[in-house]
This record gives sequence, C-alpha cells and structure tokens, in this order.
Amino acid sequence: MSQSTKTVLITGAARRIGRAIALFCAGRGMKTALHYRNSKKEALELAEKLNRIHPGTARAFQSDLSDVSEIKKMVSKMGKHFGRIDILINNASVYEKNQFGKTTLDDWEQHLNANLRAPFFLSQEVVPWMKEGGQIINIADWAGIRPYADFIPYCVSKAGLLCLNTALAKALAPKIRVNAILPGPVLLPEKSTPHFKQAVIEATPLKRTGTPQDIVSAVSFLIESGSFITGAQIPVDGGRLIS
Ligand SMILES: NC(=O)c1ccc[n+]([C@@H]2O[C@H](COP(=O)([O-])OP(=O)(O)OC[C@H]3O[C@@H](n4cnc5c(N)ncnc54)[C@H](OP(=O)(O)O)[C@@H]3O)[C@@H](O)[C@H]2O)c1
Repeated sequence: MSQSTKTVLITGAARRIGRAIALFCAGRGMKTALHYRNSKKEALELAEKLNRIHPGTARAFQSDLSDVSEIKKMVSKMGKHFGRIDILINNASVYEKNQFGKTTLDDWEQHLNANLRAPFFLSQEVVPWMKEGGQIINIADWAGIRPYADFIPYCVSKAGLLCLNTALAKALAPKIRVNAILPGPVLLPEKSTPHFKQAVIEATPLKRTGTPQDIVSAVSFLIESGSFITGAQIPVDGGRLIS
C-alpha cells in the first residue's frame, strides 16, 4: 500500500518531537490524525498548515490520555472521520522529576496512566481500524533500560512501555508490526540551564544532543523499510545506552 493512502495517528502531535513526526508523515502524503491535550492553538495551526498543502488530510483531536474513556471517544471519532487508521505513534508523555521520599500517588498515576496505560488502550482501540494490517511505533526512552534515580515513575513507565512493545508485537503478529524507538537527549526540557545542557552533552558518547529529525529518521525507517522488523527496540540516543 502506498504511503499516500495511509492514515497515521500521532499522540502529542502539536509540539516538539510529535510535531516533527507529523510534518514528516504529512510530507509523505499520509492523512494525519493529530492528537493534543492542552496545546490547542499549536495543534490547530499545524492542522491548518498541513491542510493548506494537501486539503482535507489533517485534523486535530483533543484528549487527556490518562482517561481511558476519552481515549475510546477520540479513536472512535478519528476512525469515523478517516475511515481507517494504519499507523499509531505513541509519542505523548509526561516527564516530571520525582525525588524519592517526596513522590506521591498522583505522580505515579500521572506517569503510568499517560505513558503506559494509554499506549495499551490506544492500541486496543486503534487495531480494529487497521483493516489491512498496520504498525504501532512506541516512543520510549533509553532511560527505560538505564533509569535515572530522580525520575522513578517516568523511567518505570517507559520500562513498562518496552515490555508492552514486546507483548503487543507478539499478540498482533503477523498483521501488525510493533516497534519502539528509544530517544536519548533530543530536545531537553524547555527550562534547562546551559550548564545542564553541557553536562548532558559530556555524558553522551557522540558529544551532542540529538534533533527531532534523528527520531523522524528512525520513524521513517520503520514505516518505509522495516517490513521484516517487529518487537524491536531502536536506541536513537547518541550512545547513552552504552556509556
Ligand atoms: N525530548 C527528548 O529529548 C526525549 C528523550 C527521551 C525520550 N523522549 C520521548 O519522546 C517523546 C516525545 O518527546 P517530547 O520531549 O517531544 O515530549 P513532551 O514535549 O514532553 O510531551 C509531548 C506531549 O505529550 C502530551 N501529553 C502529556 N501528558 C498527556 C496526557 N495526559 N494526555 C494527553 N497528552 C499528554 C502533551 O500534549 P499537549 O502539549 O497538547 O498537552 C505534550 O505536548 C516522549 O514519549 C518522550 O518520553 C524524548
């Protein structure tokens, strides 16, 4: 099937890495279901930009993914609007520092619900719309394998996402391929200090931070050239995992 007949659902598509993935997919002629939670203005502007180039191909959908009933409503609306969903990219994520000793139940729930439970229920709702097979790409994190001490709920949520990636790859083969990308430092949190950025670069074997384009390249590879790949975990991390 050519890319131009496919529909892709990208969660957290309004900003940063999700937006770069959406621009890539639209550039390949795919129809884009652009999920956002709070970034309404950015999501609507992105949909408008994509529709100016290819009219009627993009639409933004709001949902808080920590609420399973909202996931179900959103996927149903997307499926009815586009008639099919061929690719699901689980990109949205909560990333908060939680010091041991001060971490609350709410901190745990926020991370696990958005970063782990949501990708499962999104997959469960989307798969029936993958009428001719499909793909799921989970954007995880190298820190799901080598956790940071101050981000335990986040790292555990990403470790769980890697397990989910394997389990879904088994459950959904042979019609649907499921793979994970493990970014390293690509876009640091917006409030990062120059000192923090330098420390991150020093700790990265390739001595730079990545770019959203580095993640897009891995997405592009999986979508366009990965037809014999499922259950894979692809680090795009400048070597952080081996450092
Ligand atoms: N940035 C990096 O260097 C890096 C490194 C390692 C891994 N990653 C992974 O790569 C992916 C993209 O990274 P990023 O930095 O671009 O992400 P991000 O800016 O931290 O978050 C992406 C989007 O997730 C959405 N989101 C958060 N909680 C949500 C919820 N409960 N319901 C619905 N949407 C929610 C937000 O949408 P709204 O703005 O619309 O609210 C947000 O814009 C993430 O999975 C991240 O864990 C990134």
